[in-house]
Amino acid sequence: MDLKSFYKISYGIYLVSSNFEEKQNGCISNTIIQVSSKPAKLSVTLSKDNFTTEIIQKSGHFTATVLSQAVGMDVIGEFGFKTGKDIDKFAKFNTKVDSLGTKYIAENMSAVFSCKVLDSMDVGSHIIFIGEVEESNTIGDEPVMTYEYYHHVKNGTTPKNSPVYQEETKKSGFRCSVCGHIEELDELPENFICPICGNPVEYFEKI
Ligand SMILES: Cc1cc2nc3c(=O)[nH]c(=O)nc-3n(C[C@H](O)[C@H](O)[C@H](O)COP(=O)(O)O)c2cc1C
Repeated sequence: MDLKSFYKISYGIYLVSSNFEEKQNGCISNTIIQVSSKPAKLSVTLSKDNFTTEIIQKSGHFTATVLSQAVGMDVIGEFGFKTGKDIDKFAKFNTKVDSLGTKYIAENMSAVFSCKVLDSMDVGSHIIFIGEVEESNTIGDEPVMTYEYYHHVKNGTTPKNSPVYQEETKKSGFRCSVCGHIEELDELPENFICPICGNPVEYFEKI
């Protein structure tokens, strides 16, 4: 298999959130797709290991917010590389609540879709949720963040839970054990902070 061929598939970047009882949580996903127009339905593919997956299974709904290019790496670092099992990921950000009671971030976002889950499919490591759009709103005019922009302009990485994860093998330096970012230096300064996920130098291993 030519692994490079998978990089030719294009995606957007989204914050997928949900709430159940007192808990609000979300994660970054590159797998939102519109799958029908009448009624309007979206699908999202999430790892069985994600806490967000568990919350969506319990609540029966998800909210997808489209990231624009102006979104800070702090949003992607918090929602794409940490799990909400032990922390409140929304605590650091200004939030809004949609008609399903789910928190989302509106700042530097392009659109928001509130969806009720109609169906789901177990595809192995991941579950595909199909949701009917109950409400949608355009919330910004900045260009949207594509997966390519995230990698090539923001120098972003993708964690193992993403269905499109591929291991990076050829570089040398220090690899962040949380997000996989590789810093190509001989030594890391003591106060070094990962530019992708914001974790300190202790999280880096020599490669
Ligand atoms: C660019 C990017 C794309 C991602 N895409 C997906 C995805 O489509 N599906 C998925 O399950 N995880 C994806 N992830 C990983 C989750 O966001 C990550 O595992 C998160 O920490 C899960 O948080 P949770 O346990 O609070 O749900 C992606 C992460 C990044 C940075």
